[in-house]
Amino acid sequence: MSKINDIIKEYGTPTYVFDGDILRKRVLYLQEKLKYDLVYAVKANTFIPKIIEDLVARYEICSPGEFTICSDLRINQNQMVISGVYKDYNSIFMMMHDYPNILRYTIESFNQYELLKKLALELNRPIHLLLRVTNGNQFGITEKEVFEIIKHNDSDLIIIDGLEYFTGTQKHSLTKIEKEINYLNDLIKKIKTEANFTIKEVEYGPGLPVFYYQDEEFLEDEFLNNIKNLLDTLNVSKVTIEIGRSIAASCGSYLTKVVDLKTNKNGNFAILDGGINHLVYYGQTMGMKIPYYEIYPIKDTKERLDYHLCGSLCTINDFLVKNIETRPLQLDDVFVFQKVGAYSVTEGISLFLSRDLPKVVLIKNAKVYLVRDKIKTSEFNFPKNVKE
Ligand SMILES: Cc1ncc(COP(=O)(O)O)c(C=O)c1O
Repeated sequence: MSKINDIIKEYGTPTYVFDGDILRKRVLYLQEKLKYDLVYAVKANTFIPKIIEDLVARYEICSPGEFTICSDLRINQNQMVISGVYKDYNSIFMMMHDYPNILRYTIESFNQYELLKKLALELNRPIHLLLRVTNGNQFGITEKEVFEIIKHNDSDLIIIDGLEYFTGTQKHSLTKIEKEINYLNDLIKKIKTEANFTIKEVEYGPGLPVFYYQDEEFLEDEFLNNIKNLLDTLNVSKVTIEIGRSIAASCGSYLTKVVDLKTNKNGNFAILDGGINHLVYYGQTMGMKIPYYEIYPIKDTKERLDYHLCGSLCTINDFLVKNIETRPLQLDDVFVFQKVGAYSVTEGISLFLSRDLPKVVLIKNAKVYLVRDKIKTSEFNFPKNVKE
């Protein structure tokens, strides 16, 4: 019996399955192709960081919550990069005070620089900074601010290692990535000539794409070889690659069961016990594209029917897939949607309709663990403390 069959039997649906063995193979593949140290962006999936502890160089941690998860998982402090657009005094104080081996922080504003400097001086902690360069959105700092920080930095405790650059996810265009790398090289050169300062390191997020749908073609080996060649041109002594989606997507499946079937003038509808709130495919609009999936039990049936797959959210938008041609469905058939390891579990709309959060099952060394039981969201949506 397959592992998925066992999991369906043991844990039911809706359930996420994150396969650590697939994940490790994926990270090894990315490393073999890109040949630079990888930084895992924890926001993509908070259930898997420990599994790849020995394979990634660092973790990008963007909130106190992500920090708590990583520290409770006993991720090495010196693998942590404390990042994020909002760094509050209390959290950074706690991190610097209680976790002296956290060495790296990103800087997303001049205020953040001043906050971190103040705390490092107060606590007498050496810290290494990566200055996040903006591309015009709310993240990062301008070139002018990069120069100001370099000029202002008169403390031996504050070591500016280099730059962080991430402009967006799901980038298909090598030309765009090439432009970004050329931009970074120009900036590094300018910093050297105008401020006489050497940028030693670049932490670059290429926003590597995941191809989620069946009609898409992607020559990943070639794409990654090209990225590696572009990264080779970066004029610094250390390059790290910050990735979430491309590391995590392929390890995840979402199991959701057919709980009702009906037919009307618009076709056959299968209602599933999970909805679009837990299935975040980048670029999916109203279920128009066909993702990768299997239906359990696996049957060798030739007959095909068209269905619309809808979740159980009682909103017209809850289309997982429109017009999918499958074998005839029955109640209790289970759809196993694939490539959902990145962002579905962290980015999904969890509270709508007060449905329970799915269970999470982790596979590690071929063993299966229930790492989160279902969680009732009715408690989150309940108005407490109202008398009468
Ligand atoms: C700063 C930063 N780095 C890396 C990532 C990961 O991006 P991706 O999942 O496209 O690899 C993100 C995602 O939002 C990010 O904000």
